[in-house]
Amino acid sequence: MNLKRLIDQAVAGGLANAGFADTPAVVKQAARPEFGDYQANGVMAAAKRAGRNPREVAGEVAAGLDVDFLESPEVAGPGFINLTLSASWIAEQMQARYRGGESALDVATARIAIDYSSPNLAKEMHVGHLRPTVIGDALVRVLEFLGNDVIRVNHVGDWGAQFGSLLAFLDELPEGERGTSLKDLEAFYREASARFRSDETFASKARGFVVKLQSGDPACSALWEQFIAESIAHCEAVYDLFNITLTTEDIRAESAYNDDLPRIVTDLEQQGLITVSDGAKCVFLPGFTGKDDKPLPAIVQKSDGGYPYLATDVAALRYRAGELGVDRAYYVVGAPQTLHLKQLFALGEAAGYVDGQDFRHVPFGSILKDDGKPFKTRDGADVKLVDVLHEAVARAHDVVTTKNPELSESEREEVARVVGIGAVKYAELSKNRMTDYIFDWDAMLSFEGNTAPYLQYAYTRIRSIFRRADADAAALDATVVISEPAERALCIKLLQFQETVEQVTADNQPNVLCNYLYELAQSFMSFYETCPVLSGAEAERNSRLVICATTARTLQLGLSLLGIETVEQM
Ligand code: ARG
Repeated sequence: MNLKRLIDQAVAGGLANAGFADTPAVVKQAARPEFGDYQANGVMAAAKRAGRNPREVAGEVAAGLDVDFLESPEVAGPGFINLTLSASWIAEQMQARYRGGESALDVATARIAIDYSSPNLAKEMHVGHLRPTVIGDALVRVLEFLGNDVIRVNHVGDWGAQFGSLLAFLDELPEGERGTSLKDLEAFYREASARFRSDETFASKARGFVVKLQSGDPACSALWEQFIAESIAHCEAVYDLFNITLTTEDIRAESAYNDDLPRIVTDLEQQGLITVSDGAKCVFLPGFTGKDDKPLPAIVQKSDGGYPYLATDVAALRYRAGELGVDRAYYVVGAPQTLHLKQLFALGEAAGYVDGQDFRHVPFGSILKDDGKPFKTRDGADVKLVDVLHEAVARAHDVVTTKNPELSESEREEVARVVGIGAVKYAELSKNRMTDYIFDWDAMLSFEGNTAPYLQYAYTRIRSIFRRADADAAALDATVVISEPAERALCIKLLQFQETVEQVTADNQPNVLCNYLYELAQSFMSFYETCPVLSGAEAERNSRLVICATTARTLQLGLSLLGIETVEQM
């Protein structure tokens, strides 16, 4: 049940009744309890436009609001309408929600490809991959939960000139040593690049390896396969530790499109879209200009015959729109690639590869160190993602040990894993994805404020109520009665879960869900302070336990949609 939509529709009905069809309802949550639960503010402007008295129109709208879930609406001030939900209706909805779970949220049916994580396999995953991996995985979970048919796509970079020196370097190692030296992929990459820069013989061998690889030379392909397999194993270790839903099956690497590339270029030529400029095959698209307002080319084949990043992306786009037949495709890729993706989508339209499907860039900003500089190691190297995750778990272990020394070591390890990983993810997801943010261990691991540990802790507090009551949260008498304001506020908050989840997908903003969960936890704390749960008479106790159980489940579900786990005690 989308509560916001229900109220919007009711007010729209009232407006239509008063002769204002198509006038937006403009319903907001009430700023003060005396204004009811919600307030409709759209009437005044509409009345003024029609040259009528706003209070009079508001009266007509209110009278025409014929729904059972609202108490009789009140006209207030210069023409607002205060809307109060019926307490018995809230109670019924809570009961239904408690009994039926959240399966009713299954409302969407689009086929959506999400391109996310997508690291280059030449190196190990680093901090730069944190955002696309975490945001993409949360979007996947939310969209899937709403019933969409979601296709995860890990568009890994496994092809191109950068592999020349890596393969040449691998080739020089005795066969028995190759596997072990790939275990530290980062060091391997550094050494190979250093050789490439300092040793001209090696550099020309490396360039030769690029040609060999592209022409399908068997020995070179075998080395490449060994390298790629090892690099994918590194990614998978990160996904495992980080509780990311990507699997090997979701990989559709750049190399998968190799055979398509010449065909794409030929097709673009036949469509008359190609212009040769400085020997390169380019598409000039309207509206794209570079410096000096010169038309900006989209290069699909370089003058040396090689195919750039964009060409592979054109092939991938055609595959997604055509073969996969998606309704939408989202690209969770950093803001610096905005122009690249704009060109890509425009080219896709121009060539007729996309036809009305929604191809969309989901950009994000960067992660900074506390000095506001890019997050790098002291010597300027990328920080490995796996190291960040291990540190998160180690730091969470310290925090948990201080907070709750009673837990056994194995319990503490599990809590540390769940809290540490959750904290890193939540710090990411709770920010607007476009803003740069400072990576701050203490803030993300704090048990206060809008953090994962705060929410995970709120969850354990509710669970402990059930342990104390010796009650099964899943098998309560579902009757709910609402009396106290804090109780009412918490229930309304719970009934706003669906609209929140749907709102996340409106502009792919997981922070909408984070803010909701934070407010829900706060709302629970106020409820818990003012409404005794276990000490009341049986009917009240039962009703409040149902509210507690639904809160715990909503917190757990909301966190799981963000890819964050919970524990029973911490
Ligand atoms: N591998 C690329 C990088 O690390 C990201 C790929 C994003 N996806 C895409 N279809 N271009 O920058």
